[in-house]
Amino acid sequence: MDAPAGNRFLIWGGEGWVAGHLKTILEGQGKEVFSTTIRMENRESMIAELERVKPTHVLNAAGCTGRPNVDWCEDNKEATIRSNVIGTLNLTDCCFLKGIHCTVFATGCIYLYDDAHPIGGPGFKETDPANFTGSFYSETKGHVEEVMKYYRNCLILRLRMPVSDDLHSRNFVTKIAKYEHVVDIPNSNTILYDLLPASITMAEHKDTGVFNFTNPGAISHNEVLTLFRDIVRPSFTWKNFSLEQQSKVIKAGRSNCCLDTTKLINKLKEYNYEVPEIHEAYRKCFERMKSGGTQ
Ligand SMILES: NC(=O)c1ccc[n+]([C@@H]2O[C@H](COP(=O)([O-])OP(=O)(O)OC[C@H]3O[C@@H](n4cnc5c(N)ncnc54)[C@H](OP(=O)(O)O)[C@@H]3O)[C@@H](O)[C@H]2O)c1
Repeated sequence: MDAPAGNRFLIWGGEGWVAGHLKTILEGQGKEVFSTTIRMENRESMIAELERVKPTHVLNAAGCTGRPNVDWCEDNKEATIRSNVIGTLNLTDCCFLKGIHCTVFATGCIYLYDDAHPIGGPGFKETDPANFTGSFYSETKGHVEEVMKYYRNCLILRLRMPVSDDLHSRNFVTKIAKYEHVVDIPNSNTILYDLLPASITMAEHKDTGVFNFTNPGAISHNEVLTLFRDIVRPSFTWKNFSLEQQSKVIKAGRSNCCLDTTKLINKLKEYNYEVPEIHEAYRKCFERMKSGGTQ
């Protein structure tokens, strides 16, 4: 099935990390693409921007993620709500009113392993209610999704611990490689190289609804770092600590979970698009990193 021509993409959160990747992919595909840094909580400016650019598709990669990390959101709750709840909903709503398809780069960090979804057991499905309230960032993201999912113009893609082919500071691998100590828990991860082109295909086909947007399977921190050492940086070493020890050096809790990707994989099969299992995906990612000279 071919995607329709004549699409105009507008990327929100234009200066962000994921936004930059989306722009590069779209430009590489020769698509018409614009980006903006207009604040999402400013509805009037947002409407003016939509009327100026006249996109067929908005890719919303804007969001308050906190600097240096999500702990910031614990102390800045109103600012976090203005971006992640009011702003995100505003953009989806304005797009709805103007008949524009809106893809939201959301998060799967709204779950925590529980009795029904233990480590190694079944993953969380899109229909499972969020059960992780240990971080204000995650709480805002979980709440807004509950409302946004009713918008018929909206595609919600839940990324987790995104990984790029370079050692950008936002890359999950860069983060854990720099920590003094890391926990060792299996998690679902999103290898951007594998998934971001799929987000554009889904947007072009005007898919809607919620999708867990990770590679299939779960991989532990130690498995990631072992592959990193073996393929990219042979001298690399690291130290582990427990979840209890971790909780003493962070303010907000961190989500650990495996997401069920059946819905995503079945949807992408319609477009003959395959997503590699996470261990294989990491191996390929690190091989690209090494051949690209990033070490
Ligand atoms: N990276 C991750 O680990 C991860 C994981 C799962 C999901 N996600 C989600 O994916 C999206 C993109 O993440 P990212 O890693 O690319 O984050 P990023 O590099 O921090 O980019 C987010 C961009 O959004 C902008 N922004 C924040 N609040 C805004 C608002 N109210 N209106 C307009 N722009 C606003 C930021 O601008 P300022 O800096 O000027 O505020 C920033 O340029 C976010 O929604 C994030 O929650 C990220």
